Amino acid sequence: MGEVLRVENLTAGYGSVSIIRDLSIEVSGREIVAVIGSNGAGKTTLMLSIMGIADIMAGKIILDGEDLTNVPSYERVVKGLVLCLERRRLFPDMSVYENVISGAFRRRDKAGVKQDYEMVSELFPIIEQRRNQLAGTLSGGEQQMVAIARALMAKPRVLLLDEPSVGLAPIARKLVFEKIKEIREKQGISILVVEQDAALALQYSDRAYVLEQGRVQFSGTGLEILNSPVVRRSYIGL
Ligand SMILES: Nc1ncnc2c1ncn2[C@@H]1O[C@H](COP(=O)(O)OP(=O)(O)OP(=O)(O)O)[C@@H](O)[C@H]1O
Ligand SMILES: [Mg+2]
Repeated sequence: MGEVLRVENLTAGYGSVSIIRDLSIEVSGREIVAVIGSNGAGKTTLMLSIMGIADIMAGKIILDGEDLTNVPSYERVVKGLVLCLERRRLFPDMSVYENVISGAFRRRDKAGVKQDYEMVSELFPIIEQRRNQLAGTLSGGEQQMVAIARALMAKPRVLLLDEPSVGLAPIARKLVFEKIKEIREKQGISILVVEQDAALALQYSDRAYVLEQGRVQFSGTGLEILNSPVVRRSYIGL
């Protein structure tokens, strides 16, 4: 399938400070693309730029051929760019159900919302099992599942995930990536995922980019990157 998201020669950051420098990446239909890199490399800033939250100084963000560079971030969500933030950020005093449904707050297609709710509850059984539990009392791994479900309720074309496995035990981390694969298979959407656990992300991604100081240092298939000696030394610690 063809290209869905293209980030073209992007320079972006905060105020006049550029963190991302002349960066280009692309994501095709049904692709899982990983962005890896050490702390402070600019991974979150890249996600925030794609969403129109960080400041864009040069370059373009293009979704399905449409230039969204100057479109406000809430409109980008409606167009299909949905970000699931680092460290979850659920509404802790709201129930699991309320958190999940809040992802659809901009949608007016009631039937579609109902259908998508059924879809996410099937994908994540925890949603119905813990429907009325306060989200803040779920375990870290459970909260991550609910956060991904909430993002899916916004009906993304491209789901952006910032460190979905952070703070989770190895088994829960793996489960998150199994679910990411399942989402791609069942929903046919594209996924751009930022991860610090590079080895894990690379095993599950079709392609990957390695970021260093706001620039792309390497790119290739997940396996190519995973097997590259220099990447293994510098980013995977193997
Ligand atoms: N709101 C902000 N204002 C100014 N500088 C910021 C802001 N947020 C982040 N930065 C800086 O941008 C750089 C990149 O940060 P970013 O959060 O994008 O890195 P990251 O790759 O996501 O790191 P991590 O793996 O630790 O999450 C860092 O030097 C950081 O200090
Ligand atoms: Mg980050």
